Amino acid sequence: MRVSIKDIAGMKQRGEKIPMLTAYDYTTAKLMDEAGVPFILVGDSLGMVVLGYDSTIYVTLDEMLHHIKAVVRGSSKALVVGDMPFMTYQVSITEALHNAGRIIQEGGAQAVKLEGGEPVAETVKRIVDCGIPVMGHLGLTPQSSYQLGGFKVQGKTVETARQLLKDALSLQEAGAFSLVLECVPSPMAKLVTDRLSIPTIGIGAGPDCDGQVQVVSDILGLYTDFVPKHARQFAHMADEVKKAVFNYASEVKAGSFPTAKQSYTMDEGILDTLIAEL
Ligand code: KIV
Repeated sequence: MRVSIKDIAGMKQRGEKIPMLTAYDYTTAKLMDEAGVPFILVGDSLGMVVLGYDSTIYVTLDEMLHHIKAVVRGSSKALVVGDMPFMTYQVSITEALHNAGRIIQEGGAQAVKLEGGEPVAETVKRIVDCGIPVMGHLGLTPQSSYQLGGFKVQGKTVETARQLLKDALSLQEAGAFSLVLECVPSPMAKLVTDRLSIPTIGIGAGPDCDGQVQVVSDILGLYTDFVPKHARQFAHMADEVKKAVFNYASEVKAGSFPTAKQSYTMDEGILDTLIAEL
């Protein structure tokens, strides 16, 4: 049985912190499931840490679906949320419903996530009305980075902090089951968390959110283009991978890999027959 949105709500009610991580492939999702991570996001950060784009803006729904399916195949316990890419929910509510439906029906995710506050609240409501759980995303919303003037901490002025709270309340009112707060000052994230009955999941939003989400490549030390201030490297896998790959290449060049242990044998008589025919 997978974790449900009710289980996630229960964690907030019991004051139990909610760990969430991004995943983009079968193997990683399987390891996360085995490690007991209850909440997995197939984020459109896929575009940057897996596909090599310099922004999430270029990620398409087909690319997302390809990876959501892999994560769903790899996991059997975690609740899997699929991100709605840029311009898959902004053009019209009809398109948003159709695209959210694809993430659930084709991708196999159990919920969708989309960015924005009051302007997308009606869209959130209509998706929820179709029976699809929606996770909101406020603060630094990378799909609007051109509008925001870059990747900056949000909600630092009275006006933007007031708007952040209004946005959060409007998403809750629209039926969102949880809310990502990205790059929001910790005291502001605490205020929003205290005012909401749905769980807040922070990334760069301090310790008082109900849960935390991180990009898995950041916490594993695998993505080295830059390390965000809000990330901690719990492993240094880029170094490990480079070391292993270097050792492999060196042994292939030296002829010391493979050995008999990694090779297959055959009946010598068969080889002799073949050689005699040549
Ligand atoms: O795309 C993503 O990985 C995200 C998280 C950073 C919340 O939206």
